[in-house]
Formats: sequence, C-alpha cells, structure tokens
Amino acid sequence: MTRTLIVTGGAGFIGSNFIHTLVSSRPTWKIVNLDALTYAGNLENLTAIERHPGYTFVHGDITRAADVERAFAAARELGGPISVVHFAAESHVDRSIQSGLPFVNTNVLGTQVVLDAARAHKVERFVHVSTDEVYGSLGATGYFTEDTPLAPNSPYSASKAASDLLVRAAVHTFGFPGLITRCSNNYGPYQFPEKLIPLMIANAGEGKPLPVYGDGMNVRDWLYVVDHCEAILAVLERGRLGETYNIGGHNEYPNIYIVKRILAELGQPESLITYVKDRLGHDRRYAIDASKIERELGWRPRFRFEDALPLTVAWYRSQTQWMQRVRNGAYREYYSRQYGS
Ligand code: NAD
Ligand code: TYD
Repeated sequence: MTRTLIVTGGAGFIGSNFIHTLVSSRPTWKIVNLDALTYAGNLENLTAIERHPGYTFVHGDITRAADVERAFAAARELGGPISVVHFAAESHVDRSIQSGLPFVNTNVLGTQVVLDAARAHKVERFVHVSTDEVYGSLGATGYFTEDTPLAPNSPYSASKAASDLLVRAAVHTFGFPGLITRCSNNYGPYQFPEKLIPLMIANAGEGKPLPVYGDGMNVRDWLYVVDHCEAILAVLERGRLGETYNIGGHNEYPNIYIVKRILAELGQPESLITYVKDRLGHDRRYAIDASKIERELGWRPRFRFEDALPLTVAWYRSQTQWMQRVRNGAYREYYSRQYGS
C-alpha cells in the first residue's frame, strides 16, 4: 500500500536513516521531511535520495504551527491519507544539563503543535519516537518493560516523558491514532559526533584523548540504527493503535568496553582513555525488555554488535569529509547552496 508520510526531524541521525530505509524498502511511498535544521540536522545525510520522486523537504520548526501546516499542505498535494513519524527533538543529555529550555520548547511544545495539526488533518497513524530514558535508571539487574513507571532523571528524558504523556492524552481523550516507541541507544552512520560512539571514533582516529565519564561502568543497550528503523516501520504498519513498544538491541555493555573495542578496531592504544568528571545525575544502567514487539510484530534486531560496530567504525573512517564538515559546521553551507537561504 502506498502511504504519504510526514517525517519530522528527517535530517537528523535516526530520521535520515529512516528515510533511507523507506526509499529502499517502500519505494512508492511519498515522504515529506519537516526539519528545522538545527546544529543536529544535516541535509547532506540525504543527498543520495534528495532527487527521489516521492521526496519533499520542508524547512520548518515544529514549535511553529504555520510551519507544521506547510508540511501538511505539501503532504496533501501528494494525495492519500497521511501518517506521521515524529523524530524531531533536542536529543543530547549533556546539552540538556547545560540548558533545559530548548528541550521543553521543541520536545514538549513542539510535540503538542504537531499533535494538534495531526489531529486536525485526521492522520491515519502517528508514531511518536521516544526513548528508554523515560523509565529512569536500573540497578545491576532487571529490564524496562512498557509497564515500568516513568521516572526520567535528566532534563532531556523529562521532556521526552512529557511528550509521551501528551501523545497518551491525545489517544485517551480524542481516540487519536497514536503509537509510542521507546528504544535504547542507537549507533550507526550519520550520528552527530557528540554522542559516545562517533565521538570516540573521531577522537581515536586523530589520536586525541577519549573522555570517559566517571568510572566508565555505566551500562547502555546498543541498537544498530538500521534495526531501529525497521522496528519503527513495523510499528507504523502493524502496531496496535494506542500501544507503546520497547525496542532494544540485546547488547548491554559498560561504556569502557565500547571505548576499548573502538580503540582495538582502529589499532590505537588504550592510553588514550582519559577518565573525566562524571555527568551530573548520570543514569547507571539501561536495559530493555523488547519481548512485546518481538511477540506482536515479529520484529527482532538483525545485526549483531560484533558485526555492526566494525561496520560503523569503517563508515566514519570512510566519511572523513562528512565528519570534518559536521565538526566545523560547514555542512550548513550546503543548505544555503542547495536551497538559497
Ligand atoms: P538528532 O539530534 O540527530 O536529530 C534531531 C533532528 O530534529 C535534527 O534533524 C534537527 O534539525 C531536528 N529538529 C530539532 N528541533 C527541531 C524543531 N524545533 N523543529 C523541527 N526539527 C527540529 O536526533 P536523533 O538521535 O536522530 O533522535 C531522533 C529521535 O529519536 C529523538 O526524538 C530522540 O529523542 C529519539 N531517540 C534517540 C536515541 C539515540 O540513541 N539517538 C535513542 C532513543 C530515542
Ligand atoms: P550518550 O551517547 O550521550 O547517550 P545517552 O546519554 O543518551 O545514553 O552517552 C552514552 C554513555 O556514554 C553515557 O553513559 C555517557 C557516556 N559518555 C562518556 O563517557 N563520554 C562522553 O564523552 C560521552 C558523550 C558519553
């Protein structure tokens, strides 16, 4: 079935991977990418598909109703019922510790603006992409299930939890066709090098110190971004309306293990590891029980960490220009060249 889809935040890390997944696996679908192109949004992630006949880019901010309306108008022109996959967000915990306001603005206010427009346009389905961080932190054992109470600890995760509750309220109050996904830490191509894995690859490649927070024993569950995109597609197509689905990679590792694996992959010495002051309020462990999506939708991750980490390291090593341009902000020139403002 052909669908018309509005993807918010499609120029970011997961959103751009999702658009690549759609273009190759659902080539007849129409895609409107609504993105404000913040520091994390990079249209160069999409150069390979920007001339795809079903793809339209709308430069706009989800906190502005008029911008969101322009995306719906573009989708209307393409015809057919509209669905939304909502990625757009401020996404970095460390930035949220420095300043919470942009997180409340985009993640909370912006989500409500998109929800209001989606409801007015009677969308077919609305997938809200959230995070396992809304559940808080685990001790040495146990897993987050969809029924784990929300207990966010950082300004980022608190703003995501708030946005999840707005989606829940729309479902409950208006019978809105919303679904929520909560995934673990993603890794793979096109991730902004402020997050652990691309930052460590970049620094190790240049022989710079690798800053490990605290004792390096905080645990994350790593999910290859291609697996995540396939899970979101399964939820969009077959998820039960009103439900929440956890998505995890079955790859729980302490940060120090990841850092050492990256150094080994690049043939660099462990002496580059530098323990630095811990992140404030640093969540100790995240781990996902993803049995619901496996049982109901038949989704399971296809990639093993042992294979996908080397693939990821190789991708960043082969994309030195992308990396350089992202790190010095030059990718922003691409937008002015391509779109003239
Ligand atoms: P990202 O920071 O790489 O990309 C965010 C995108 O949203 C960018 O293209 C940015 O320009 C856009 N954006 C930001 N503010 C906007 C606004 N006001 N209006 C329109 N567009 C705006 O993020 P990501 O890592 O791709 O994450 C995507 C989603 O997945 C987020 O909602 C995040 O909370 C969630 N998530 C991410 C991870 C992860 O490991 N990266 C894990 C769990 C959940
Ligand atoms: P990050 O990629 O920021 O994702 P999140 O905070 O959403 O889990 O961080 C992943 C883990 O790596 C987290 O425990 C913090 C740690 N970390 C470091 O030790 N050093 C760093 O420079 C960064 C960015 C993260």
